[in-house]
Amino acid sequence: MSLADAGLLDRINGSARLMIVSDLDSTMVDHDDSENLSLLRFNALWEAYYRHDSLLVFSTGRSPTSYQKLRNKKPLLTPDITILSVGTEITYGESMVPDTGWTHHLNRKWNRDIVVEETAKFPELAPQSETQQRPHKVSFFVEKVKALEIMSFLSEHLEKRGLDVKIIYSSGIALDILPKSAGKGEALAYLLQNFEVDGKVPLHTLVCGDSGNDSEMFTIPKVHGVMVSNAQDEFLQWYKQNAKNNPNIIHATERCAAGIIQAIGNFCLGPNVSPRDIKDFKKCNVDIFSPGHEVVKFYLLYERWRRAEVDKSEQFVKNLKSGFCPFGIFVHPSGIEQPFHQCLDYMAKLYGDKTEHQFRVWVDRVSSAQIGSDTWLVRFYKWELSGDERQCCVTTVLMSLKQPDGFTWVHMHQTWLEGSRARDQTAWCF
Ligand code: GLC
Ligand code: MG
Repeated sequence: MSLADAGLLDRINGSARLMIVSDLDSTMVDHDDSENLSLLRFNALWEAYYRHDSLLVFSTGRSPTSYQKLRNKKPLLTPDITILSVGTEITYGESMVPDTGWTHHLNRKWNRDIVVEETAKFPELAPQSETQQRPHKVSFFVEKVKALEIMSFLSEHLEKRGLDVKIIYSSGIALDILPKSAGKGEALAYLLQNFEVDGKVPLHTLVCGDSGNDSEMFTIPKVHGVMVSNAQDEFLQWYKQNAKNNPNIIHATERCAAGIIQAIGNFCLGPNVSPRDIKDFKKCNVDIFSPGHEVVKFYLLYERWRRAEVDKSEQFVKNLKSGFCPFGIFVHPSGIEQPFHQCLDYMAKLYGDKTEHQFRVWVDRVSSAQIGSDTWLVRFYKWELSGDERQCCVTTVLMSLKQPDGFTWVHMHQTWLEGSRARDQTAWCF
């Protein structure tokens, strides 16, 4: 499996402008932020300005099962590449096609049974749950005070038994044993090598992390790196000892995804103002001629209307309407067809109906194709969270571009994402 086979490079049509390689827990995802505000800010930024020509890579310590759990709980975008189980598994695309070449390569001087046998001699090592144990990853919990000593004992023992391993301590609690050739850094180096073979190395790469298992990514030549403000001690310690004078690495003052956005600005890697932070789109000078931005903007306005975060005015609805073709049709996921303007009139009545609910809207995987001189076909996944319920529709929109006004929505069609149909279909507006 190569990157080209995965179809990734076709989509972005050449080298990625930016490749973000981010850890998830306490980096992309802030577990202290129940509203996921910084993650949602990042999502809007990515879909509006980066999705079409850049690559999003998640690199997590989680196993496939626990990654899925996190996805079901948090509004995570779909990454182009997913690196799982501390760099021991690499998968491509939405369907997560595994890179079997990578797994093969990890078998050198690795024997899981021997690792299990040797680690059993240390009662201080408490095995993590079965779902976190993977073919090339054996994981434990261990107290900080014991960790260093055990790590040095273990690496000696395992070496004597003919293995070549890497032992990583993260978040002041987790200890992972992997083949030496695995890890988040090695996995990233492998990806970059493959891009090089295809002659398509990303223009810029930004790595983002908060804990011990992330540090390796920061040693890859030419990458920019951000340690989020809430980075763990062991990681800051590593930075002090190994990378203090590297101008390509910053310790953000912002937590988690907000720190990633901060780094994009700091290193001048591209747009760094999330559409979520723009109060008045009319007054700001952004690239309005991108379908991604158009979609993100519309759904933000829609969210703000239903949360009553904008003034209740006829002008607001009128402005929204002006972006929709008066004769345009919306095919609702229930199958019912309605003129756009009728749907917007219905929406107008729903002002503030979601102030009590944790109502959030985000879009994922926006892609577009120009199919005529001024016509675009845009496709995306539109998610809506209301209280504990969340729904998603696969959405296709035909848009026409009329400079200098921007886009007009001409036709729209939605279908429920499998397993994500609303119980009450009439409650779904757009
Ligand atoms: C994630 C994994 C865990 C691992 C830790 C540190 O939390 O679920 O198994 O030990 O990352 O890498
Ligand atoms: Mg983390």
